Amino acid sequence: MTTFRAARGTRDLLPTETPRWSALERLADDLATRYGYRRIETPMLEQTAVFERGVGEVTDIVEKELFRIAPRSEDGESWSLRPEPTAGIVRAYVQHGMQTWPQPVKLAMTGPMFRYDRPQAGRYRQFWQFDIEAIGDAGPAIDAEIIELGTRFYAEAGLTGVEVLVNSIGDPACRPAYIAELTGWYRERGTRLPPFELERLARNPLRLLDSKDPAMVALNADAPRITDRLCDDCAQHFATVQEHLHVLGVPFRLEPGLVRGLDYYTRTAFEFYIAGREGQQQALGGGGRYDGLVELLGGRPTPGIGFGIGLDRLLIALDEQGAKPAAAIAPVAVVVGADPDDTVGRLRIATELRATGIPARAELGRRKLGKQLEAAARDQAHFAIILGDELTSGDVQVRDLQAGTQKLVPVAGLAREIARAHAAHRHGLAEQGAAGAARGPDPA
Ligand code: HAM
Repeated sequence: MTTFRAARGTRDLLPTETPRWSALERLADDLATRYGYRRIETPMLEQTAVFERGVGEVTDIVEKELFRIAPRSEDGESWSLRPEPTAGIVRAYVQHGMQTWPQPVKLAMTGPMFRYDRPQAGRYRQFWQFDIEAIGDAGPAIDAEIIELGTRFYAEAGLTGVEVLVNSIGDPACRPAYIAELTGWYRERGTRLPPFELERLARNPLRLLDSKDPAMVALNADAPRITDRLCDDCAQHFATVQEHLHVLGVPFRLEPGLVRGLDYYTRTAFEFYIAGREGQQQALGGGGRYDGLVELLGGRPTPGIGFGIGLDRLLIALDEQGAKPAAAIAPVAVVVGADPDDTVGRLRIATELRATGIPARAELGRRKLGKQLEAAARDQAHFAIILGDELTSGDVQVRDLQAGTQKLVPVAGLAREIARAHAAHRHGLAEQGAAGAARGPDPA
């Protein structure tokens, strides 16, 4: 018999893990709203050309890591699963004429991305990003605001020790001369370059700067720095970003070797790491400015900036810091009964409770009352609603499983009593609440 497994580099998020994911997604939503970013969803697949043009043909992401979907003969179009959201979001910005909206258009998205990379700890073929994009603002103030938003996300998620590395990689006015100088500099030292880097030098010389190869790290310490060769506009922009970060109290470190692995970047580039862990190619998140991307994808020249935060890596980092696992979700009430066969009676009451918004479960197994109560306690339910002989006079027993008390409550007022007693318990008024629930309907 074949055993089926999730595809290599992908994984199932089980109910034991999803509460933490939901919490991160809620935090992402909440922060995006707080900062004025509105949700966008784009398809998980795009025309391959969107990524080839947007991210860049000579990048690892497009050259090696694209999940290409074989073209179907009837349309012949080449599609790929999105390796990142920015190119698709900018495609949508152009397609839907968002240039005519009030600028900047501030967009947020959280969802899965796909890269056909060699899987290892913290590197998956399907992973999740919280992404933020502000399109139509040339900065520099918004650059700092976005970096601050990233650091706040980590802080509110409970992660400590996050460091922001910041750089400026110039623009079309100053970068070409720098790249020519850098290429010449590496060529003069060609014998010291590993063969792989020598090959990359011909195609994407900037990438050599953030090589993790120890020989390259040593060599790169003396490499010409883009930050010393920025044109006046880029230098002024970068200085102002730093000034704003200082005023906002966001600690950051200048990292002249930070070039990012996507071609669309201009000027501000940044990455988030746990301090001291930069060597391991395990950025927690990263982003930057992409002032040429809208035009590259067919729109009017429009500046933009954003970041992508890896949620998988954030959760791994939280685990390493000993973050508490999220509590399991317990039902507020479990409906049990003396007559094992009366599933209709139990289901009806649970349905009524749920209709009023109370998380409730009916015991649908036909087992003895004792076993039903044990299961309710195991579920960590607050109340067991016990259906017995009192049902003929319209009442049920409500047992507070946490306080160990039990009261008779009319079915007609059950939902209200449970809601009130549970709310009182949550607000630390357990005894009053439970007693109040037993005394009868709320006079208010
Ligand atoms: P990126 O640096 O390629 O940037 O990815 C952002 C984050 O996604 C990384 O820092 C990392 O946490 C996570 N990540 C990337 N690949 C993987 C993987 N294979 N497994 C697990 N996590 C991964 C971008 O994607 C840009 N779109 C960011 C951006 C938005 N720039 C401007 N706007």
